[in-house]
Amino acid sequence: MKEFQKTYNLYNGVKIPKVGFGTWQIKSGDEAYNSVLTALKNGYKHIDTALAYGNEKSVGRAIRDSKIKREEIFVTTKLPAEIKTYQEAEIAFIESINNLGLDYIDLYLIHAPWPWSEIGKDCSNGNVQVYKVLEKYYKLGKIKAIGVSNFSPNDIENIIKNNKIKPMVNQIDYFIGFSHEDTIKYCKENDIFIEAYSPLGTGYLLSNADIKKIADKYNVSSAQLALRYLLQKGVAPLPKSTHEERIIQNTQLDFEIKEADMHYLESIKNDPRKWG
Ligand code: A2P
Repeated sequence: MKEFQKTYNLYNGVKIPKVGFGTWQIKSGDEAYNSVLTALKNGYKHIDTALAYGNEKSVGRAIRDSKIKREEIFVTTKLPAEIKTYQEAEIAFIESINNLGLDYIDLYLIHAPWPWSEIGKDCSNGNVQVYKVLEKYYKLGKIKAIGVSNFSPNDIENIIKNNKIKPMVNQIDYFIGFSHEDTIKYCKENDIFIEAYSPLGTGYLLSNADIKKIADKYNVSSAQLALRYLLQKGVAPLPKSTHEERIIQNTQLDFEIKEADMHYLESIKNDPRKWG
């Protein structure tokens, strides 16, 4: 079996395929439908979307049209970051499951601890309330694993202290030269699995000469090196592409980055927030 189709285990025993197909910024309609269908045709078994991406209907249609058995595909979607009440969260969950046209969701995440227009705002109580909806549908079997995204250790502590079920996953932005070390350390210590969104830095790191130099050594592209790096970090990258050759290239990760090169890559600083 190819590396990208192997699985990690979440702490509740659910298996999650190592590489997921990310759909952020893929337009609803033909673009999302064709990209997801192309990914599934090329062996991806893990698709990541969100209500906020606006493409769930097309993603769901592609999943159904692929004719792959439902239990063989791992589907993630997310509760919009702006929703912080129980009632609205329940409505949003039902909307997502209906949009996708699926009987259950494999992984459902709170998209962020605060609305995107108010990053950093304290929504502790709201997060506890909406997480109760995740717990409810998890217990009903409508969600196989629950978690959070963009949560700091403090945000997760708040959930653990005030809810019943520890999150199984935290999905964060993570790529060569950019990581949230404190969050990663905290999640590892607490057996909360990390997924990496924007594993290619939304494409930025592909023009980095230091990364290209190492990629050349292994005869792979910078994208492949970046994805393999994250696999060797024990996390699940969620690369996005709308081009078939890239969708395929991003599955060819059966090579090993040597320890010295991993250290070199770890030393690269590539924080896009410092680039503007
Ligand atoms: P495109 O969708 O036009 O193929 P991230 O996954 O970090 O969000 O990065 C996604 C960006 O990287 C997109 O702009 C995507 O472009 C591009 N991309 C994805 N895979 C590759 C690849 N193998 N080679 C070059 N660019 C890629």
